[in-house]
Amino acid sequence: MKINGLHQHTIWVDNLHSQQVNTFDQRYLPHQCNIYTIQSSLDAINAISNMVVRGAPLIGVTAAYGMWLAAIEASKHKNFEGHIATAAEQLKASRPTAVNLTWAVDQSLSIINATKGLTEKVDAALALAERLKQDDVETCFQIGTHALPLIEAIHAKNPKKPVNILTHCNAGWLACIDWGTATSPIYQAHDLGIPVHVWVDETRPRNQGANLTAFELGQQGIPHTLIADNTGGHLMQHGMVDMVIVGTDRTTRQGDVANKIGTYLKALAANDNNVPFYVALPSSTIDWKINDGLEEIPIEMRDENEVRFIRGKGSNEVVDVLICPESTTAANYGFDVTPARLVTGLITERGICEASEQGLTSLFPEHA
Ligand code: MRU
Repeated sequence: MKINGLHQHTIWVDNLHSQQVNTFDQRYLPHQCNIYTIQSSLDAINAISNMVVRGAPLIGVTAAYGMWLAAIEASKHKNFEGHIATAAEQLKASRPTAVNLTWAVDQSLSIINATKGLTEKVDAALALAERLKQDDVETCFQIGTHALPLIEAIHAKNPKKPVNILTHCNAGWLACIDWGTATSPIYQAHDLGIPVHVWVDETRPRNQGANLTAFELGQQGIPHTLIADNTGGHLMQHGMVDMVIVGTDRTTRQGDVANKIGTYLKALAANDNNVPFYVALPSSTIDWKINDGLEEIPIEMRDENEVRFIRGKGSNEVVDVLICPESTTAANYGFDVTPARLVTGLITERGICEASEQGLTSLFPEHA
């Protein structure tokens, strides 16, 4: 997708300086578009845990590049296996909810272990990271293509009105490599001339909706309106939302989805108002080993200061402002689980299915 008219990916290997991975520092968007450089496995761990990069697919690809850098470091160590195993564990622990992290690190580890020769191991880790990145572009495009008929059908019923889509957090290209998951059908519909309008939940505490989704929609010329997190139910009661599309950080075998805190409340409101609630996901977010999302998905607890403070643009620079009494403590639950029964459908790179084990295994029979 584009920033200031230029097509970009969210992460890339710097061609001029080898062994260096660049990404946008998402902590400063939309006010500053800073490039953040990752030069070691520790840099990759920090970038993920401090949310320089965020969003399940981008976290996974960043971790794969982190494993490449870990392999370079390990090749200079006496104990290659020990160093690489430690880096893998630290990367996996850097954010607990998005399963793409474990998915990417485990693939890298097994390719590194299966390859003979130190240079070859390093090359294999880089090749895997590049492949996961390319695959994500294709996967997100396919998600959009499969979901496009849903938007076309709403438009056909009422061609004079824009299709109103509500989304939460940022499941856009900034959370992936290109296209995004929830945003991919929106971008594809817009490209076909279908009028779309997006209600953007601000998504406290870190405001990924206000900072990132609003930014990327604006950059692609998609009409959108920012709303406070508590507004969605009201809009749905008044027929102002045609569908909800969100992303997910982990999807269980039975179709429960963990996504940014507040997603569950939107699903409840959608259910009460007969608004279709879709979840868009690359299959890399499916955790086939677990069933019950409420019991089995670890919910990340983050620093209370993300709730106590709010970040925005001061007169010149990005500043954090305290929004409660100095002495007030806060709880910062990063994600919540929406049970499958509240999900109208799961949109994957292989098509749309019911949020159930039967639905998922009909698209992914290799996991039946
Ligand atoms: O804490 P974040 O910003 O990493 O949370 C991101 C989300 O919850 C996204 O909706 C999810 O990762 C899906 S991204 C395609």
